[in-house]
Amino acid sequence: MTPRPNPRRNVLKMSQTEEARTPETTEPEHGERRLGFGALFSRHVISARYADGVWSGTELLDFDDLRMSPAAMVMHYGQAIFEGLKAFRADQRTVLIFRAADCATRFDRSATRMGMPPLPPGLFVDAVTRLISADAAEVPSSPGSAIYIRPVMFADEPSLAVRPSTEFRFLVLASPVDSFFASGRTMIDAYAQRSHIRAALGGTGDVKCAGNYAGAMAAKTEAMSRGCDEVLWLDAVEHRFLEEFGAMNCFVVQGSGASAELITPPLTGTILPGHTRATVINLAQRRGIAVREAPIALDEVLDPDGMISEVFACGTAAGVAPVRTIVTDAGRTRTFGHRPGPITAGLAADYTALVHGALAAEPDWIIRIEG
Ligand code: PLP
Ligand code: COI
Repeated sequence: MTPRPNPRRNVLKMSQTEEARTPETTEPEHGERRLGFGALFSRHVISARYADGVWSGTELLDFDDLRMSPAAMVMHYGQAIFEGLKAFRADQRTVLIFRAADCATRFDRSATRMGMPPLPPGLFVDAVTRLISADAAEVPSSPGSAIYIRPVMFADEPSLAVRPSTEFRFLVLASPVDSFFASGRTMIDAYAQRSHIRAALGGTGDVKCAGNYAGAMAAKTEAMSRGCDEVLWLDAVEHRFLEEFGAMNCFVVQGSGASAELITPPLTGTILPGHTRATVINLAQRRGIAVREAPIALDEVLDPDGMISEVFACGTAAGVAPVRTIVTDAGRTRTFGHRPGPITAGLAADYTALVHGALAAEPDWIIRIEG
């Protein structure tokens, strides 16, 4: 029998064939290779199963392929949710897991929305902590790097019946990462189009289910074919107001200097309540910057003579990502500059300091691990 390839080694090889860097990419120091996003995996995975109405305890396993029935319900009806959080290196002996408790709460909310069983209290945070304690040596230390933690739950009852699954699997895996964007760029170009929508009221836009991302892939392909990094989603009713990016929330800066104001779309049920969004609001308030949650019209953002001077995206995977250009399907373009604006740059620096432990965090934001 031919030996099966080790899945961790496989992805290591894949990352060695990454495309050439563009001038705006984050080139790692000392000739190190870029880690990219989600291409390498740490040594272990946490696993738990739900059957007969109860969750098993968690197991720490070696990272390996899964065995699943071809009839596993997730592959037919897509009942799957996930989370995303990061652990950062504070120093050679300390790793900080950021906002795990908030992810646990959002995971439960996603599970309820998708007709899936919530995890027992404490299981999510214990699982994340156990995995990162086991794999702490794999948390990278180069600037801009972290270990991305991916908890996921999916239906694995073998059945084609159209009803909620009665069996689920919960896994937590981890991936050493640096730049989220395939290009490695630190400033991004976004594509706003009106032919697709991401979410409408009453749908699943404010939870983290796999289907939200599946429905967005065609738009992402279109964005990339136009040389953009991300889709900028508009509201589903009028296609006029900014919602969020494909995997990040959205902020604009209105005005400048002491009168600058930060505006972000309100959480009205169609966008994901991002933890980075909440963190950025907290950091802006610490700096004395006024923050407002209000609808933002794309027309105002695109007006070069208007009040909006900076736009940025933010999310766990991407961090704080300044927007360089917005392109629309109607052929309109606005470039905000080739360097981050002052408010974006200040908040990005604060965010980096916070997650690495150099700026005080709020209570329950950080779990500290020796390793
Ligand atoms: N919006 C979407 C659609 C996302 O996928 C994410 C990433 O999780 C975010 C926003 C940002 O959320 P967070 O800051 O909690 O990572
Ligand atoms: C995150 O930022 O954690 C996300 O989940 C976004 C993306 C990787 C799907």
